[in-house]
Amino acid sequence: MRIVVIGGTGLIGSKTVTILRQANHEVVAASPQSGVNTITGEGVKEAVTGAQVVIDLANSPSFEDKRVLEFFETSGRNLLAAESAAGLRHHVALSIVGIDRSDNGYFRAKVAQEKLIVASGIPYTIIRATQFMEFLRGIADSGTDGNVVRIATSMFQPIAADDVARIVTEVALAAPREGIVEIAGPERAPFNEIVARYLQAVGDPRQVASDPEARYFGGRVEERSLVPLGEARLGRIGLAEWLVAQRRA
Ligand SMILES: NC(=O)c1ccc[n+]([C@@H]2O[C@H](COP(=O)([O-])OP(=O)(O)OC[C@H]3O[C@@H](n4cnc5c(N)ncnc54)[C@H](OP(=O)(O)O)[C@@H]3O)[C@@H](O)[C@H]2O)c1
Repeated sequence: MRIVVIGGTGLIGSKTVTILRQANHEVVAASPQSGVNTITGEGVKEAVTGAQVVIDLANSPSFEDKRVLEFFETSGRNLLAAESAAGLRHHVALSIVGIDRSDNGYFRAKVAQEKLIVASGIPYTIIRATQFMEFLRGIADSGTDGNVVRIATSMFQPIAADDVARIVTEVALAAPREGIVEIAGPERAPFNEIVARYLQAVGDPRQVASDPEARYFGGRVEERSLVPLGEARLGRIGLAEWLVAQRRA
């Protein structure tokens, strides 16, 4: 099967490309570096022509509110228009659990991306993942004030990128769900505890201050804003195992 991975050089994209190639699929690892740019439109039509599945794993180079919204809207429009013209059989995109339950600029951009997909008429599956374990450092940085990291006490259930890529691959090879599939890590625990475990394990001297009012990238988070509310597929890699692998890498 010919499968195009948009953002095929990124964290999840590169892992997804590897798994699909190991299963002998014809895979296009598409990114600006390989001449496929969903913002300018360069190479998009050529990449998707003849493909059965497109997996959109692109991410915005800027997380600033206006720029991230522009990225996901423009990228989504260009990509979906080319897919529609090519008669694509399955569009898969990676989104985030709880984007409609907390309010920040990045979540608003992902909501806009999802709306374009649903309205496109192309058979689709949206995978909403919880935060990647690989993103814990960025989360800690965003809540840092001096040597203290302010983190909410709400529930948190991060998933390892290897689990995300494996599930993305399985979903992409199955029939379109015409809806949302939620995925999360195997353990749920308070957000502040998980970030504290991470910082301690990597030898980061910053201290976590648990703060029920702490914002997540500017948005309020309630007890279950960031975790699946209903049925979710769970990854296999727990935080302890992932932390050991980080130390070995
Ligand atoms: N971080 C989280 O915790 C989390 C949780 C759930 C879902 N997600 C979603 O997961 C997805 C993948 O995230 P990631 O961390 O794997 O991303 P990433 O590592 O930042 O990779 C982004 C990819 O997008 C490509 N890209 C950037 N601009 C492009 C353009 N104009 N045209 C085509 N490709 C472009 C990049 O190509 P270059 O290498 O050439 O720049 C790169 O391959 C994102 O949509 C994100 O919203 C993230």
